[in-house]
Amino acid sequence: MQSNVRPESMARITTKELADAFIAEQVAEIRAQVGDKKVLLALSGGVDSSVVAALLIKAIGKQLVCVHVNHGLMRKGESEQVIEVFGKALDANLIYVDATDRFLNLLAGVAEPEKKRKIIGAEFIKVFDEESAKLEGISFLAQGTIYPDILESDGVKAHHNVGGLPEDMQMELVEPVKLLYKDEVRVVGDALGLPHNMVYRQPFPGPGLGVRCLGAITRDRLHALREADAILREEFDKNGLAGKVWQYFIAVPDFKSVGVKNDKRYEGWPAIIRAVNTTDAMSATIEEIPYALLHHITDRITHEVDGINRVLLDLTPKPIGTIEWE
Ligand code: XMP
Repeated sequence: MQSNVRPESMARITTKELADAFIAEQVAEIRAQVGDKKVLLALSGGVDSSVVAALLIKAIGKQLVCVHVNHGLMRKGESEQVIEVFGKALDANLIYVDATDRFLNLLAGVAEPEKKRKIIGAEFIKVFDEESAKLEGISFLAQGTIYPDILESDGVKAHHNVGGLPEDMQMELVEPVKLLYKDEVRVVGDALGLPHNMVYRQPFPGPGLGVRCLGAITRDRLHALREADAILREEFDKNGLAGKVWQYFIAVPDFKSVGVKNDKRYEGWPAIIRAVNTTDAMSATIEEIPYALLHHITDRITHEVDGINRVLLDLTPKPIGTIEWE
């Protein structure tokens, strides 16, 4: 097993050539470690787990079993992309679990943010456990641990991250990117041929849209949030902001205001735009978005998304506002 300390002699992976060399080395190491046994991976579709999946598929193909749990709080199109890329294009052994109802039923009526996080984290582990119990002959657990996770903790992903797995799982770990920094994981992902939008996507909290559908989550408001968020992302992509802004999203609070639509009173929720820049997420500044684009986004969201009748812009830096609203 690899040590948890990055050797000083290890070059920063910045080019396709360096990434290819890393991939070749890891493929050999994974094959040596795993032999003909099976490996299990919780595949969220985030950068780290996706790169680990692609590396393992290259090394051991169908000996890797990926489990993707859709907790119903993913952004629009994310679970579909996991199925498309891993289930179809890479022909992986992928188990897709749509656990939306389980999560949303448990979250019904729960307004307190930390309680919501706990429910989501605990249920994730439960669903993953149930799925792995159905499988036979799994000897290894793969994890998308990266070097900052090791530097910041004891080598296990921060447990508030959905994807944190039970400690009593008696399996040897396979962690092929544990000595890499995030930028290197992305270069490796590119070299493995993963889609650009998967490799360069912005950070997304484990509890997903659950902490952006503020207060007690309802299906209709969650749906409105997902649609509004997709419009914001589409417009940022089209207008060259996607690579410039570190994190951007919509939050939808649990209150309505009066509006007017087709000459009739129309009560709806506000969609709040948050777009911040940061290097370490400890502090954040506000990205300036051109007014014309803000008008266009407002127009699209208020016309295309049922239930939204206003669009607001959050201008608060961190501190004092955290990046997420909950
Ligand atoms: P805050 O809101 O604390 O967010 O300024 C800082 C960064 O952390 C992300 N975040 C989370 N990530 N689970 C996660 O995996 C969480 O519960 C969580 N809460 C916040 C947030 O999106 C931002 O990038």
